[in-house]
Amino acid sequence: MLHFRLSKPILLATLALTYSITCYATPSKADYKSFQPSPDQPYYFEDGKVDFGTYNGFRRYHADCHVCHGPAGLGSSYAPALIESLKVMSWGDFVNVVISGREGRDNMIMPSFAKNVDIVTNLSDIYAYLKARADGVIGANRPAKFPKVKKLIADK
Ligand code: HEC
Repeated sequence: MLHFRLSKPILLATLALTYSITCYATPSKADYKSFQPSPDQPYYFEDGKVDFGTYNGFRRYHADCHVCHGPAGLGSSYAPALIESLKVMSWGDFVNVVISGREGRDNMIMPSFAKNVDIVTNLSDIYAYLKARADGVIGANRPAKFPKVKKLIADK
């Protein structure tokens, strides 16, 4: 068991930075190599393939979220279909629910993932995956992917 504690404000600031840093470096969206995710465009899709981050989101989702939210974000009798939620939910609201957790109707619990490093550090990828699902860009199966792009300091 990994012990990892951060205060909530620091955590939220960290998550906000996930995007704000990369925004400055946004060149063109010419291809997957120059793609920089943002809350407005969290995933890249071309020729049936997604960027590596979105693929990573698929894997993370199916490691920790699908037990309650169903395969591919389709929902279950216990928890809502996230492919529907993400049609209207902002990045900020998404982060808030996953970090803080929530108690819903009939005492059904959305647990807080604030102490789960695997989720906290991959939250923008999970969001990207679910957003691509919500937009109908990818189906329920494992998506095909572009290779991982190494982010080099020399690129900036
Ligand atoms: C133990 C079961 C469980 C797990 C695991 C779980 N959730 Fe949930 N989640 C719920 C329930 C139940 C709700 C509905 C709570 C409510 O009604 O307010 C919910 C709600 C949500 C919502 C809000 C949906 C909406 O329409 O408002 C989001 C976003 C969400 N979960 C994301 C995630 C993500 C991402 C993961 C994986 C990291 C995850 N959940 C894992 C049970 C779970």
